[in-house]
Amino acid sequence: MSIQFNEQTKIFHLQTKNTSYVFCVTDFNALEHLYYGKKIPLDDVRYISNRQIYSHVAHESRDDRRYCASVQGFEVSVFNSGDIRTPSVVFDYDNQADACRLRYRSHSIYKGRKPLAGLPYSRADEETESLEIVLTDDDNCVELTLIYGVFADTDVITRSQILKNVGGKALTVRKFASMCLDFYGMDFDTVTLEGLYLYERAQVSRAPLKRGVFKNNSLTGTSSHNHNPFIALCTHNADEDMGDAYGFNLVYSGNFSDEIAVDHLGDTRVIIGLDDTGFAWKVGKGETLLSPEAIMTYSAQGLGGMSRNLHDHTRKHIIEKEFAFSPRPIVINSWEASYFTVTEAKILSLAKHALDCGIDTVVLDDGWFRDSDKTSLGDWRTDKESFPSGLKGLCEKVHALGLKFGLWLEPEMVNEQSDYYKQHPDYVLSTSKLPLISRHQFILDLTRDEVVQDIANRIREELQGLDLDYIKWDFNRYATEASSFATEQGEVYHRQMLGAYKLLSLIKAQFPNVLFETCSGGGGRFDLGMLYYSPQIWTSDNTDPYARTYIQYGSSYAYPMSALSCHFTEGKCTSGRESTFEFRYRVASFGSYGYELDLSKYGAEEKAKLKGYSELYRKDEDLNLNGDLYRLLSPEEADYCAYMVVSKDKKKAKLTFLELYASGLVESMALRLKGLDPDKLYKNEETGEVLYGATLMNVGVRISDMYREKRTDGYTLTFVEV
Ligand code: DGJ
Repeated sequence: MSIQFNEQTKIFHLQTKNTSYVFCVTDFNALEHLYYGKKIPLDDVRYISNRQIYSHVAHESRDDRRYCASVQGFEVSVFNSGDIRTPSVVFDYDNQADACRLRYRSHSIYKGRKPLAGLPYSRADEETESLEIVLTDDDNCVELTLIYGVFADTDVITRSQILKNVGGKALTVRKFASMCLDFYGMDFDTVTLEGLYLYERAQVSRAPLKRGVFKNNSLTGTSSHNHNPFIALCTHNADEDMGDAYGFNLVYSGNFSDEIAVDHLGDTRVIIGLDDTGFAWKVGKGETLLSPEAIMTYSAQGLGGMSRNLHDHTRKHIIEKEFAFSPRPIVINSWEASYFTVTEAKILSLAKHALDCGIDTVVLDDGWFRDSDKTSLGDWRTDKESFPSGLKGLCEKVHALGLKFGLWLEPEMVNEQSDYYKQHPDYVLSTSKLPLISRHQFILDLTRDEVVQDIANRIREELQGLDLDYIKWDFNRYATEASSFATEQGEVYHRQMLGAYKLLSLIKAQFPNVLFETCSGGGGRFDLGMLYYSPQIWTSDNTDPYARTYIQYGSSYAYPMSALSCHFTEGKCTSGRESTFEFRYRVASFGSYGYELDLSKYGAEEKAKLKGYSELYRKDEDLNLNGDLYRLLSPEEADYCAYMVVSKDKKKAKLTFLELYASGLVESMALRLKGLDPDKLYKNEETGEVLYGATLMNVGVRISDMYREKRTDGYTLTFVEV
């Protein structure tokens, strides 16, 4: 049993393999948070909230000052309920002042979980248990149901909530975070993944908490290149291997907010959910509002342990089962090979060369219905001049070569220069006469179901009868105007996201067995919401392996390797900086591997090399799909980067070492391995040397040994149990 309720003490104790999450119902029927962290026995820990109360605090009891709303830990904090700290929920009865104290009424515990209608969420397995707690206000106007999912196997607890208007009053919700979690003390660092276009999640930003509110959020209508919904809290001493580390994320792809608020007493509150900027959602009588799902994990093995929990959870419970642990396609994508000049002949030439390179899937990127980014998005009509056999004919020709075929789409957008926009100028997210333009395009107003259905039908028609194996789903601008001809401003951003998820579901229903890769101008929508629909996401338009090292290393804090789509590209890649073949492969094989270059420029010898890489990737792919990642050397701290992946049974491990800048330091460097079984004997497949895991993890390997042999810009070592 992962969820226990003690009738006497009214304590809820949620347990995963290694963690405990404890809260209780107070004498005043509030939900008081007591503890989250390393697993503890089922003791009565209510004493921890018993504190001396100072002046200027309000309490419900006339004679017992223990229940003080401004210092207690809460499971949900509602504005205007006595809690003077940062709230997680704000609503009003049509601007009328009224108390919003919510009290426990009932709860239920059950196996599995209920789907979150219209939203992505963690999928249950046999072990998953759920808890629902119903709270209501004193006048019975509002019913708030808190939903907890306990995923014992991955040490993850999920939170979401539904608010229902059960009274007769008009209700406006102005903030609706998915979770609120209170910690005593503020001895934490925050860790966030900062970035921007071509630099997504590349900067792992760590800083000690200060009093006040730290906010990591996005207002772009996407999770964005600039910030990511993932946030960690860790003790100051936490590193990759030890110390307390809490990881949080939101299963959502739109405007999010992670708030860490340190109050006047030096206590810490974590609030994760929808961003509340401009948010105002009317909940009519009998109507409900459902929040996205937040997830949290705790590890005593520092940030490394936290990441491994998040990786396991994403692979086992977010990504669709049929794709999560299965070999991924090795694609040749047409974008960097031909950009908008792509033609049928070019795709067939790529396909023929792909056969020599161990590639199994040819992907036709942007350009199949236009020759620049200026026109035609939204019309969904194949350019017959460049593609004389049509998509169907081309697809058949690629299949006849024994290869799979993939296609690029950007269904949520329309070009200003398109027939579709001319016909439906009111179908975009803007009510202004001159909407803001970005990449010559607007975002379709998916808050309107008729737009979602119409665009799905148009795409459906164009792709009818097409035997696709792969779809790349792109999204190339930010939402900058929360305006719609049909939807109230305060509801636009969230309704837009619900519409986008619906559109994704509709197109996925047309292609049930097709692997989707999502993308947003590179990695601008890299989040758990998208991973629910697509097992992998294009990591960044920056394919320079030096820059990619930072991007991939940063992304690994929150996301499993297999979720990162990584391509081997031209030597003079997007940045113009040269790199060796070996280096490009080493970096790209970090994630789900593929190619993005004009294969016709390569001779037999080079293609044989690429074939070797494809085979090597396939040989080691199981590590990427199933293994545990250990970060050894951060590129931000050294001139090098190193990481290991170890199989779950610890029989095989791969060490990757990357030299980013040539530096003498490498000569004296010993690298201690991680994650091995100390008692197993491992053979270094490169050198033939056999050593115990304990030796490799404590004495380490000498980097310069490798360099003396062959001066390279990095190496990969494989260790197998003997
Ligand atoms: C942005 C993506 O990140 C690229 O890979 C490519 O698909 C272009 N869009 C196409 O417009």
